[in-house]
Amino acid sequence: MGDYMQIPNYEKARSRSKNEVKVRDFKLNQEYKKIGLNKKFFLKTYGCQMNEHDSENIKGMLEKMSFSETMEMEDADFILLNTCSIRENAHNKAFGMLGRIKHLKALKPNIIVALCGCMAQEVGVVEEILKKYKFVNFVFGTHNLDDLPKLLDQSFKNPKLNIEVYSMEGDIVENIPVSRVSKYKAYVNIIYGCDKFCTYCIVPYTRGKQRSRHKEDIIKEVKELVKDGYQEVTLLGQNVNAYGKDLYDDYELADLLVDVAKTNIPRIRFLTSHPWDFSDKLVEVIKKYDNIVNFVHLPVQSGSSRILKLMGRRYTSESYKELYDKLRSIDNISITTDIIVGFPGETEEDFEDTLDLVNYCKFDSAFTFIYSPRENTPASKLEDKVPLEEKEQRLYRLNELINKYSKESNLKMVGKTYEVLTEGYSVKEGMLFGYTETNKLVNFKGSSDAIGKIVKVLIRDAKSFSLDGEIIE
Ligand code: SAH
Ligand code: SF4
Ligand code: F3S
Repeated sequence: MGDYMQIPNYEKARSRSKNEVKVRDFKLNQEYKKIGLNKKFFLKTYGCQMNEHDSENIKGMLEKMSFSETMEMEDADFILLNTCSIRENAHNKAFGMLGRIKHLKALKPNIIVALCGCMAQEVGVVEEILKKYKFVNFVFGTHNLDDLPKLLDQSFKNPKLNIEVYSMEGDIVENIPVSRVSKYKAYVNIIYGCDKFCTYCIVPYTRGKQRSRHKEDIIKEVKELVKDGYQEVTLLGQNVNAYGKDLYDDYELADLLVDVAKTNIPRIRFLTSHPWDFSDKLVEVIKKYDNIVNFVHLPVQSGSSRILKLMGRRYTSESYKELYDKLRSIDNISITTDIIVGFPGETEEDFEDTLDLVNYCKFDSAFTFIYSPRENTPASKLEDKVPLEEKEQRLYRLNELINKYSKESNLKMVGKTYEVLTEGYSVKEGMLFGYTETNKLVNFKGSSDAIGKIVKVLIRDAKSFSLDGEIIE
């Protein structure tokens, strides 16, 4: 088997072929359907919503192969890590887990262990597995998720380490079985990959070229979710605003949102928006349709136009603010962002530009990160003299400001009533929890009948990260 290993390659991962992307249907080989009888799997997922959704597909496939899930790694016959490469700490967590699994496997040598997701697409990670983690049975990448049944079958027959990672995307595979975490809200992929190549980011190498799903397939999936009683869909992609560009002459995200809105699903979210592709038509569509949420996650990354240029983001601080103002003109909209501090060469002045931008935008909330150099990315080759301590200080100062504005935006909601999709029992005793249209977490008093429904909640109190309230209807 070793001779046929398929190892990742960055030259191929960077290339963008003009080949037409084919669409095919998932088929489960009859002989794989019983492999998991009386066997348990343990699946650990790192990373973004796209990875979470891939894990829902992984679970779907494993359940069709008769496996059942266990939450205890020690009880599993098959352990799978679905990994993320975005920052160093995601790496460290996955490798730490592999360390634990190594001990377990010394006691139970028959367990099958596999690794998939974005880290599998990294040359350095695969080299390290080949050198130091030979007990792993197989590794597969983001472009051949649907090979899992075959690889698992091979592994039970011949447990020797096998790597099957393709650096270039293949077909779009429709109808992979899915086992969704929630009965009320669902993820729906609309576009795979990313062609933006921001200089700090590894995703274009781990997820391949931008490929839109056909609109008919997306709408069919949403209609089925409506039939099954789902209250909310999140349309997913690394850059959803590029939807359709690789597939249609005259059909973009705004058009897709209109078609999805017409299915009458109560709530439609979309993630993530790159400011570069955000059209005026999209702003209008958000305004017009009630079931398209008034919520936009619009990562800015930095408030310094100089740093934005080095990041390859292709907008300036000024043009970001212009777009931001257009969106703020929508009633009750909530806007959140992502910010990186400590990009190579970021000066105190650049950082203050970021603080200025935050003071201007007053985001509803934000995810903030210290820049983490990623293998093979252009930014990782830039000189970086800012000491880590300084970066940590900047992150701290930034978070103080972000939290202040989060709390302000939450305080404005006190005394008013909002629709909340109830998800279940809160960690706070005797309370339920759910999210507003604007993605604010609310803990509230109410009866369990509310679970799975959109209810009206009066907000009584606000904190930086959540709201407290009570059901009024
Ligand atoms: N496609 C989305 C972001 C996906 S990654 C977009 O373009 O906005 C989520 C966030 O991780 C990014 O917005 C960025 O803030 C952060 N991130 C990505 N690469 C990073 C790196 N090398 N170091 C630190 N943060 C990073
Ligand atoms: Fe990464 Fe930029 Fe693509 Fe987002 S748009 S996934 S940050 S390359
Ligand atoms: Fe991580 Fe890959 Fe998502 S790198 S953030 S899991 S696309």
